[in-house]
Amino acid sequence: MNILILGGGGREHALAWAVKQNPKCDRLIVAPGNPGIAAIAECAAIDPLDGDAVAEFCHEAAVDLVIVGPEAPLAAGIGDRLRAAGLAVFGPSAEAARLESSKAFAKAICDACGAPTAAWAAFDRLDAALAHVRAEGAPIVVKADGLAAGKGVTVAATLDQAEAALESAFSAEAARVVIEKVLPGEEASFFVLCDGTDILPIGTAQDHKRVGEGDVGPNTGGMGAYSPAPLLTDDVQRRALATIIEPTLREMARRGTPFQGVLYAGLMVEDGMPRLVEYNVRFGDPEAQVLAMRLGGQMLDLIQATAEGRLRDVTVTWADDHALTVVLAARGYPGQPQAGGPIRGLDRLPETSAQMVFHAGTALRDERLVAAGGRVLCATGRGTTLQEARDRAYALVDAIEAPDLFCRRDIGWRALGRP
Ligand code: AMP
Ligand code: GLY
Repeated sequence: MNILILGGGGREHALAWAVKQNPKCDRLIVAPGNPGIAAIAECAAIDPLDGDAVAEFCHEAAVDLVIVGPEAPLAAGIGDRLRAAGLAVFGPSAEAARLESSKAFAKAICDACGAPTAAWAAFDRLDAALAHVRAEGAPIVVKADGLAAGKGVTVAATLDQAEAALESAFSAEAARVVIEKVLPGEEASFFVLCDGTDILPIGTAQDHKRVGEGDVGPNTGGMGAYSPAPLLTDDVQRRALATIIEPTLREMARRGTPFQGVLYAGLMVEDGMPRLVEYNVRFGDPEAQVLAMRLGGQMLDLIQATAEGRLRDVTVTWADDHALTVVLAARGYPGQPQAGGPIRGLDRLPETSAQMVFHAGTALRDERLVAAGGRVLCATGRGTTLQEARDRAYALVDAIEAPDLFCRRDIGWRALGRP
């Protein structure tokens, strides 16, 4: 099989690594890829947002399956474009991708199918939005409606913060915001494949969004993650499927826009009851890194069955294992990250199904590896216990020579206690 993965971050390195474990994979191309991916696959300089260029490349390279990593090409319609060209694609249509690309759409779907989520209202005018938050009071959540690369949400503790978030959101043209109540509880992520009809849960994870140890400081794309998430017990998963995910997917099919790909449900759990925080229509980053380490080569079979509408024919084979990934980020992140910091020592590290360093934001400068992004590397360990997975991940972190990168030392603390 010839496989094309679109994207070039840590998520795509992890997906590429898992796909390569499967003997079905003859040729693997990643566009645009990164220096870590280049060590295990071909990289092609194609923009995933350029549907015509991707379709033409697939034709020339006789690609059998396209796996779309990030949300932006999905929201822009890459799934529709490639399926129209007769290709098997893992990832939803632009219409189904609205579950992520429009918070108001996702909320409206929840209301239509009765899925529990925070009470909400949408506004396209600043004065009405300000009046609403003043009437509701703080704490309150303000969300920009469109894709915002994880930066569109303010959980405002005070009315001043909520008003500032609204002023900033409405400084953009044609702005729309969703304002919602704060959900109490603890958050975790649930990943479910859907081929338009059938669904298959493929695992849980918990990430650490805040930049600082103890989960303090500004929000990031994720400073680390682990899988499984103990919070999402079998019972909680069953409830989330029955009350949130299945009704949502039925509603999408009923509207004539069935969802195909991976649905990533961000859940808030209180007293064993899950409520939806948000949907994403692709794998999480860094959650994909821990899921890929646990699923290994079967990830390709699952993705292919999803793309080909054959999910009912496959099952997940679980090992009784745990994975944990630690993000090494460039100083300044999640603000302006410092670029160009040297990275040494990776070539001496193991690359096994128990220890992998995935590249998120690296570049080669004069044949030397340097930082080129906010999140730079993901040191990932797998083991029979979460503690073993964590020890293996931090053993990698400690062997990497990168004085300009930093990481949190407490990834996994909610499950393991503080280090
Ligand atoms: P989102 O981009 O919707 O995932 O929001 C980013 C983060 O903000 C989430 O992962 C939550 O930690 C937090 N958040 C969003 N909505 C709510 C809510 N209604 N209640 C509490 N926290 C929220
Ligand atoms: N780690 C959060 C996300 O991928 O959206």
